[in-house]
Amino acid sequence: MPEELTLRITDLIAEAKGVIVVELRSPAGDALPPFEPGAHIELHLPGDIVRQYSLCNDARETHRYCVGVGLSPTSRGGSRHVHQSLRVGDTLKISPPRNHFPLAEDAPGFVFFAGGIGITPVWSMIQWCEANKRPWHLFYLVRSRQRAAFLEALRPFGERVTLHADDEAGGVFDIASAIAQQPADVHVFTCGPTPLMLAVEAAAAGFPQEQVHFEWFTPKQPSSTATDEAFHIQLARSGEAFEVPADKSILQVLEDNGLRVESSCREGTCASCEVCVLDGIPDHRDSVLTAAERKNNDVMMICVSRSLSKTLVLDL
Ligand code: FES
Repeated sequence: MPEELTLRITDLIAEAKGVIVVELRSPAGDALPPFEPGAHIELHLPGDIVRQYSLCNDARETHRYCVGVGLSPTSRGGSRHVHQSLRVGDTLKISPPRNHFPLAEDAPGFVFFAGGIGITPVWSMIQWCEANKRPWHLFYLVRSRQRAAFLEALRPFGERVTLHADDEAGGVFDIASAIAQQPADVHVFTCGPTPLMLAVEAAAAGFPQEQVHFEWFTPKQPSSTATDEAFHIQLARSGEAFEVPADKSILQVLEDNGLRVESSCREGTCASCEVCVLDGIPDHRDSVLTAAERKNNDVMMICVSRSLSKTLVLDL
């Protein structure tokens, strides 16, 4: 696990209604660990709250990280704290960048769908496309223009940005028709709320899976169902074995038994609890593994995924 960093908040920018950009720099002026477009960092907030936020600045910058934070109406403390309590000059612990939403750098063209605050990783990707002279188009779908971050920065790109504001258009954007008009070889990148992600997934079903990329910040599917059953886990390294009851996750069972396993979101969207599977077939319920990775069945997210076999042998 890479070491945490302590960074200073050097700017707080009201980017749009309900969206703040937090700029973080090393207090000593050191260069920060590099990141790729699509990467996120974790902010460690008071009350043991850890939240992931996508980096939105140009990935060539080494002197700062910028994250865009939308104020969630259902905030469990993370975005509310960022909006109401953070001040310039405060220090924050952060986990270094990780990337589960990488650009396919060799793609002949890039089509981005950003829903609301989902623009944050996409804006970093667009800056990469511009720096590398690669063709791109953005479909930016928002409830209202006032809530759309980075509109000023996007303005010079003219027709390469399709902005759809529901309140002006009187309804939601026709994603199926936008995707139907794309060349067959483009790569599609989507970040936004679950209904947008599912709509793009359905509309892009005809594309090869490796050309369609998602960054889920809300779970794709519920982590539990009424028909869940108990199963067993064996820990290959320690030799311990436990039953996972129908109403608990593997992660909870391990913690109940005094084992410390890395975790963060606990809802299948961050990949920090990924564990190698040595035997058995996981019932994947996370939102981060690709279809090909799921098929391999050699890793799983133990905060939400369960088992299709009676026993799973884990590399723990
Ligand atoms: S803790 Fe985030 S995916 Fe499991």
